[in-house]
Amino acid sequence: MTVKIITIDGPSGSGKGTLAAKLAEYYQYNLLDSGALYRLLGLSLSQKKLIDCLDSSLDQCVSIAISLEIQFIAAKQGIQVYLENENVTQALRTETTGELASKVASIPELRAALVSRQHAFAVEPGLVADGRDMATSIFPEAQAKIYLTASAESRAQRRVNQLQEMGLDVKINDILANIQARDKRDMERTVAPLKPAQDAYIIDSSELSINEVFDLMTAYIDQKLAK
Ligand code: DC
Repeated sequence: MTVKIITIDGPSGSGKGTLAAKLAEYYQYNLLDSGALYRLLGLSLSQKKLIDCLDSSLDQCVSIAISLEIQFIAAKQGIQVYLENENVTQALRTETTGELASKVASIPELRAALVSRQHAFAVEPGLVADGRDMATSIFPEAQAKIYLTASAESRAQRRVNQLQEMGLDVKINDILANIQARDKRDMERTVAPLKPAQDAYIIDSSELSINEVFDLMTAYIDQKLAK
């Protein structure tokens, strides 16, 4: 029997992470936050002082990507992420780590090194995979493919709210500029650029609440999974 896979792709701040987690809980499926893998690799390469010499140290960086020691552990306060036994849950979500991840994600060899790790998440009872290229590259066989987008301004405002809730002091203009730069890099890169799959269901969440988006998604997924 093939494992049921739901992919959610889209730009940063579209609400993908929240909705993917809600869907995984609703369907009782496994959850893959593929962005976290790129963030973890960025963090690891930065700690090893390799982030500014990715091209010249590519073989070493690929080996690190393949053997990256990471753990996702469920806890009361949410999933805790460990990199080489160090809890990096907070560090993972910062803008700086997002920038590191985006750099790493633009290198085809590093993307390739993370593919089998992502495939390993596709096990029973099913998978919700959150990312940029889940439907177009990693899981083209997925039964339900969603592309969730929103205007850069509304995504920046949401990100500011999220970071402020974490106690971080941030300015909307800085966040907006980061989002626009990252969108451009993610959409223009030659390998696995951010774009909807041909058969994706596209949702613009700019004017919708989380619950409204969730209802649209489950209606679509239920119909696809019933086939
Ligand atoms: O979703 P996120 O903000 O955690 O992603 C961090 C970076 O990783 C972002 O710049 C895009 C990149 N990424 C990617 O290229 N492919 C994925 N499947 C997931 C994330």
